[in-house]
Amino acid sequence: MGVQTMDMKAPMGARLHIFHDVPSLADAFARRLVELASGRTREQGVFTLALTGGETPGPFYRRLADPEFRSVTPWDCVKIFFGDERSVGPESPRSNFKLAWETWLEYSPIPRESIFRLRGEAASLAEAAEEYSQILEREVPGRALGFPSLDLILLGLGPDGHIASLFPDTAALNETLRTVVANEVPQQDTWRLTFTFPLINAAREVWFLVTESRKADVVARALGYHPEGAVLPAALVHPVGGNVHWWLDRGAASALPEPQLKENIG
Ligand code: 6PG
Repeated sequence: MGVQTMDMKAPMGARLHIFHDVPSLADAFARRLVELASGRTREQGVFTLALTGGETPGPFYRRLADPEFRSVTPWDCVKIFFGDERSVGPESPRSNFKLAWETWLEYSPIPRESIFRLRGEAASLAEAAEEYSQILEREVPGRALGFPSLDLILLGLGPDGHIASLFPDTAALNETLRTVVANEVPQQDTWRLTFTFPLINAAREVWFLVTESRKADVVARALGYHPEGAVLPAALVHPVGGNVHWWLDRGAASALPEPQLKENIG
């Protein structure tokens, strides 16, 4: 069982939560998320949450689907958004929406009209991006730095340090005005819809979900333990709310300095 350490900080101030295995990590994540959602809905009547895609979040979303969490949070006050989407429809096995729907949202009491899908199937991804920017303006009450301020954005981490669909050396990394764009990703010979840094860094909190030892080196670089990591997209996440949390299993944390690892793992 891991020891959750809220006071442990990495060089750039990120808080690390390291657990021995994915089930204990996903459980701690779910408990902290419902606690945050309950607090924010008590405080402001709504909780705005953006989900990450990829393979990693499956066990985390499945834990949230457990009936244990059904009654502990006013889910009818929660609004769900998506940080990025592939250029596919919701039925595609590559769809980030499909992953979240089938592992959690389908079984959750969150009102369907409060789940805002990115239309990856759109003939014009640029129009779909603009449409989603307007949805965020309408549905997210919080503001910071002139942009909608989401209460929490979940992010994964690619082996190249990408977050959402902000891949190294792609145009969207330099976006300073728009909150959602269509981004060409030559590395994958595709286009994607993605949040941009203005939107990500306007959030109150950003949580990274990273598992598996294959990610250990990029985690250590993104957390600032190696100078060359400073240019990774993940290292450019500095939300105005100042809260960046990394939820890591032992494998993903295995390249962190030993003392840090010892203190975080029970
Ligand atoms: C996506 C994600 C992407 C993902 C990373 C890690 O659309 O794929 O948003 O940013 O989080 O690529 O993916 P895995 O969790 O599959 O390793």
